Amino acid sequence: MTSFPRRRAINLAVAIAVAIVLAALLTFPFRSLSNSDAQAVVPYIPERLHPVTIKTPAGIGTLRTEQRDIHGNPVGVACSTCHADSGDRPLIERSAELTVFHTDLKFAHGQLSCSSCHNPDDRDLLRLADGQKIAFVDTMQLCAQCHGTQHRSYENGAHGGMVGYWDLSKGGRERNDCVACHDPHQPAYPQVMPAPPPRDRFFNVKGH
Ligand code: HEC
Ligand code: HEC
Ligand code: HEC
Ligand code: HEC
Repeated sequence: MTSFPRRRAINLAVAIAVAIVLAALLTFPFRSLSNSDAQAVVPYIPERLHPVTIKTPAGIGTLRTEQRDIHGNPVGVACSTCHADSGDRPLIERSAELTVFHTDLKFAHGQLSCSSCHNPDDRDLLRLADGQKIAFVDTMQLCAQCHGTQHRSYENGAHGGMVGYWDLSKGGRERNDCVACHDPHQPAYPQVMPAPPPRDRFFNVKGH
């Protein structure tokens, strides 16, 4: 007779313990969802994001010819076709010294020499200031090392433009390489004047 309440008490205790464990198990995975800080649980799933494509000029890293292939792309000649071995020829570093070839190359980019960007041992590659060789398609790394401000603006979307989606889960985005807009040899843009506004259709104000 005396054991009955004790057994009930034990059963009750076991039931409560099981309930606590179950409750803990059930709520655990959802605990973060009940946070007021809902942003923190939006999953970052890179596979579902559309790509950001960076447009580089066609035939970058080759010497363009007048020819075009059947797709309409310009045909280029690999730099190493002629630059396999410079032999004993002294390296030219300034455009003014070019008398035999590349003579139409105009240069106006600070006091840089050709080897500031072009790797002298392998003309099919560029090089960074620390000597690291990079492919022509990675030119932005080259520009970034000296123009950090513009590169940061580019990374933030304030320089260089873009088309497509801010939200990459909805669609892709297309951006331009620095050299799609800037000629690396004379990169400055000429000063542009703002165009006059469209003429007012109703008041017919002319000239402004
Ligand atoms: C058809 C042959 C030919 C091709 C292709 C060619 N070059 Fe040259 N390059 C020359 C010649 C010749 C000179 C020397 C020019 C002179 O003495 O006036 C030269 C000079 C240069 C120089 C000056 C430094 C030096 O070597 O004296 C650079 C830099 C250069 N070329 C880069 C390139 C790059 C980059 C490419 C590919 C995008 C390229 N060249 C493709 C023939 C070529
Ligand atoms: C600021 C870096 C930089 C400097 C300095 C520089 N180049 Fe270039 N050069 C580039 C880049 C980047 C390209 C690729 C651009 C492209 O092909 O659209 C290029 C392309 C070329 C090409 C191929 C162009 C074509 O349209 O066929 C030649 C030739 C060349 N450079 C020669 C030279 C010579 C000669 C010098 C020195 C007088 C020089 N470069 C200085 C960055 C530079
Ligand atoms: C080794 C350093 C170096 C590299 C690499 C370099 N630049 Fe420059 N850039 C300069 C210097 C120095 C100037 C001249 C600044 C001046 O005259 O005030 C300049 C000037 C410019 C200007 C003109 C700025 C103005 O206010 O007129 C532009 C645009 C530019 N660079 C773009 C580029 C691009 C695009 C690349 C990559 C292909 C590049 N630069 C690579 C050093 C560099
Ligand atoms: C969509 C074309 C475009 C692209 C891509 C672009 N730029 Fe520019 N950039 C411009 C124009 C246009 C100007 C001139 C702005 C002005 O005169 O006010 C400029 C100006 C500059 C200047 C001169 C200083 C300034 O801020 O006015 C530098 C340096 C420069 N860009 C570097 C870069 C670098 C480095 C990249 C790649 C990371 C890049 N740009 C990509 C269009 C572009």
